[in-house]
Amino acid sequence: MQLLDGKVVSQATKDELRLNVSQLRSAGKKIPHLAAVLVGNNGASETYVGSKVKTCEEIGFKSTLIRLPEDISENKLLQVIEELNLDQDVDGILVQLPLPKHISDEKVIEAIDASKDVDGFHPISIGKLVQGIPSFIPATPYGIMLMLEHYKIDTKGKHAVVVGRSNIVGRPMSILLSANTNPGNCTVTLTHSHTHNLKEICLSADIIVAAIGKPNFITADMVKDGAVVIDVGITRVEDTTKTRGYSIKGDVDFEQVAPKCSFITPVPGGVGPMTIAALMKNTYNACTLKHD
Ligand code: GUN
Repeated sequence: MQLLDGKVVSQATKDELRLNVSQLRSAGKKIPHLAAVLVGNNGASETYVGSKVKTCEEIGFKSTLIRLPEDISENKLLQVIEELNLDQDVDGILVQLPLPKHISDEKVIEAIDASKDVDGFHPISIGKLVQGIPSFIPATPYGIMLMLEHYKIDTKGKHAVVVGRSNIVGRPMSILLSANTNPGNCTVTLTHSHTHNLKEICLSADIIVAAIGKPNFITADMVKDGAVVIDVGITRVEDTTKTRGYSIKGDVDFEQVAPKCSFITPVPGGVGPMTIAALMKNTYNACTLKHD
């Protein structure tokens, strides 16, 4: 069993970006600028956005964090996005999800200028992704593809089972793994809460991507020997032994499943760091596509 180490691969990706940014700076070209919008005080969202802004600093990007109150109106939020769309200095815009219930995720995502859609959630980005046209790829699936590429994992002709059909992870992941690319060219089964015989389907998988947000959902009896297991779960579970009061649990029962795998991602330190590195790549591309 080999660990797919997201810290190592994300560091390599960030090092490359840092070098590219220093070259842009030396050449007097525009430096990538990410604007992150955080609505309300969701603890997990605060942590994720904080990491994104910190990573921008680490690699030399400019970043702006816009904090808005939980009770902001949908119209006011749409206005903020319009201002960011018009701001020539801003290359990438991300609005951290989930949004408060009174705000429509779809309306907000569609309001973002597609050329600044570094989250890859806009219908234009998703449409291009489906058609195999270069576009912004949602950061978590993109990060997983970068990790598969880094470890030279053979995906061609393999059966990949994606557990979870969210717009953020499962569905775009299924599209990327089935694309005529390397990594890619998998036969993909996209499973969800209504899937019959999930255990049998998972047992036939060469590659499992677990993205359902249920701790320890994938157990050893669902995984065949030699499978590649990618764990996207990052659920906060109460843990009184930790000073912060919680620990992070993946969707995979790592202790039991890992000995059966050829490759597996740990949680934390697997997919999580790759998500941020992929977002940075999208932001760099948003900038250079427009200004290079
Ligand atoms: N919430 C959970 N994952 C993501 C992500 O990748 N981007 C944004 N904007 N919100 C999220």
